[in-house]
Amino acid sequence: MKTQYYTATSLDGFIADSNNSLDWLFQFGEVTGDSYSNFIREVGAIAMGSTTYEWILAHHINQDAERPQAWLYEQPTWVFSSRILPEIDGADVRFVKGDVRPVHQEMLAAAGNKNIWLVGGGDLVGQFYDCGLLDEIIVSIASVTLGSGAPLLPRTIATPPLKLLTATVYGDSFVELHYQVRYASE
Ligand SMILES: NC(=O)c1ccc[n+]([C@@H]2O[C@H](COP(=O)([O-])OP(=O)(O)OC[C@H]3O[C@@H](n4cnc5c(N)ncnc54)[C@H](OP(=O)(O)O)[C@@H]3O)[C@@H](O)[C@H]2O)c1
Repeated sequence: MKTQYYTATSLDGFIADSNNSLDWLFQFGEVTGDSYSNFIREVGAIAMGSTTYEWILAHHINQDAERPQAWLYEQPTWVFSSRILPEIDGADVRFVKGDVRPVHQEMLAAAGNKNIWLVGGGDLVGQFYDCGLLDEIIVSIASVTLGSGAPLLPRTIATPPLKLLTATVYGDSFVELHYQVRYASE
């Protein structure tokens, strides 16, 4: 059972542009083969920050439409926010705030023998890293630069460095890097 940050980034390290747009990513369509379907099959619990949740609300669920779309995930999802956010009918979404450690304990219990997916953003993943709770980073690097935006992981992880487990090329635009996180105390 691993706690994994699975995401896509620009070459210069941003997961969304400065307008919180992912158009730069979606221009490619589904180019990373069965990476996501293989990954999500092994996920038992999900965490994300409020900007990501609100992005999903606005771009996928569309609550104000005549026929809103269903929530994206079957797995229980913890959303970190200090605010009251809209809920989604039929979705197992749990709103939390503050220290990530007790939330991680709840997520472990819910995930069974499956993995925990940290969707992002980068600082929330950094909070798990700060507590020694991030095991792996699986990042698809798109062949674009954005100049600014939401950072992939605003932390210094240098000594020990990440350990590269695999590198997979997808077409002429993406490479997926799978890293193991190591901690100085190990
Ligand atoms: N490229 C990709 O595959 C990918 C993947 C994921 C996300 N994204 C995009 O990247 C962007 C990420 O946005 P972001 O960097 O702002 O990150 P985010 O983690 O989605 O949202 C950050 C916000 O979450 C809340 N939060 C974080 N930690 C908290 C804690 N411990 N307790 C309480 N609240 C906490 C805070 O807002 P409040 O307290 O004010 O609510 C904080 O400002 C979004 O646009 C998202 O759609 C892209």
